[in-house]
Amino acid sequence: MSNKSISVLVVDDSHDMLEVIRRNLNEMGLNPFTSDNVVEGIEILETTEIDLVITDLNMPEVGGTQLVKYISHHFAETPVLVITGYPDVQGAVDVMKMGAVEYLIKPFTNEELTTAIKHIISEKINSTLKEEQPSEKLDSFFGIIGVSEPMQLLYKTIERTKNNKATVLISGESGTGKEMVARAIHYNSAYSSAPFVAVNCGAIPDQLLESELFGHLKGAFTGAVTTRAGFFQAADKGTIFLDEISNSSPSVQAKLLRVIQEKEITMLGGTKSQKVDVRIISASNADLKEQIAKSAFREDLFYRLNVVTIHIPPLRERKEDIPILINHFNQIYSKENKKKPLKFPSGIKTILKEYSWPGNVRELENFIHRLVIMVDGSISIHDLPDYMKMSSPLSSSSATPITLAEMEKKYILKVLAEVNNNKTKAAEVLAIDRKTLREKIK
Ligand SMILES: Nc1ncnc2c1ncn2[C@@H]1O[C@H](COP(=O)(O)OP(=O)(O)OP(=O)(O)O)[C@@H](O)[C@H]1O
Ligand SMILES: [Mg+2]
Repeated sequence: MSNKSISVLVVDDSHDMLEVIRRNLNEMGLNPFTSDNVVEGIEILETTEIDLVITDLNMPEVGGTQLVKYISHHFAETPVLVITGYPDVQGAVDVMKMGAVEYLIKPFTNEELTTAIKHIISEKINSTLKEEQPSEKLDSFFGIIGVSEPMQLLYKTIERTKNNKATVLISGESGTGKEMVARAIHYNSAYSSAPFVAVNCGAIPDQLLESELFGHLKGAFTGAVTTRAGFFQAADKGTIFLDEISNSSPSVQAKLLRVIQEKEITMLGGTKSQKVDVRIISASNADLKEQIAKSAFREDLFYRLNVVTIHIPPLRERKEDIPILINHFNQIYSKENKKKPLKFPSGIKTILKEYSWPGNVRELENFIHRLVIMVDGSISIHDLPDYMKMSSPLSSSSATPITLAEMEKKYILKVLAEVNNNKTKAAEVLAIDRKTLREKIK
């Protein structure tokens, strides 16, 4: 059994600590859920299959001891790793009696943390997980195509959000499929028959966004001639997808924070609040951490929005997905255009796999669409734009096989051209010394 389906809930009031642990868990291929308070932590436990809980002891309001007690009563099988900055022996003894299996004192190194986690997993979790069915590789999930490891992890993360309404923050470059993932989370959930409402925060002007999200009463502002419900009311019981969340104004951010904390909204121009029950999924292709550093995004909101984080890697970091995506869009668009699917010789496939796809899946989809319209039968090297051929060591001319020596020559010449004939730089790029390069040039 791989570690990939192991979900870990981390509860700590320190956001820095949450981030450190989240990063370590991600690196271990585990699936982290995070919360900065015990009450929310318990909500996640109640709605999600959690395999391991990592909790701080000293937290304001409800302390970690309460959480350990709760787990020992309601989730006796779930192991708990306790971390604390206050090494008090009595506290340790107490929680160990309640069922905590490991105890780690802050500050700890990444290695101490991962060792403790690995220990618990091998002792406690793997034995129970072994009874689960072996997970098979999926090549698609709710219309999302992908066979690579990161996509398998993504499918599992979506699966784990099924029965809860934890906020989800999706990051990834443009065209990686953030909106698709948001939809998959909704349609895979227990409340899939409720609405999914997508809001592009980047496309709606600031003043308007507030009234669009929360609704307004008649006369709330000039032009508000009727009372209108907002997206939050429209999405009640379902999901609201806040795309390009980094573009929201401070005022909208403050209100969003309130919706998450109080689960209620107030319409513009109104004084009475109303309850809403909405899962919030947000997405951004800007780095929110950077925005926080520039004071352009509220840190407290960031931590409320990312109980679950999903990062979709760019296509160039999961090249195995490229052939299956080509195939997928080839089928779709040839059917749509009532044509026979195009043939992609292996040389062409290699070039397409090596190309960096800066526009990710969207670029690939549009490219295949165009090819289906423009070309009949088999794709040849001449059908590819030059910039695509450039990124491949096979480069221009033809896709017919060439010898290794020819290929090496081509590649060296290409690198030399790219660095303006600077031999030191070329040697660096090629990872050979200058002398070898000189000989090869000869
Ligand atoms: N894994 C995938 N499988 C199939 N189609 C995909 C996949 N990823 C993206 N697409 C397609 O690519 C296009 C872009 O996807 P989507 O709109 O979800 O991207 P995005 O990350 O939201 O982009 P942006 O940041 O520009 O809004 C859509 O047409 C979508 O159907
Ligand atoms: Mg999008």
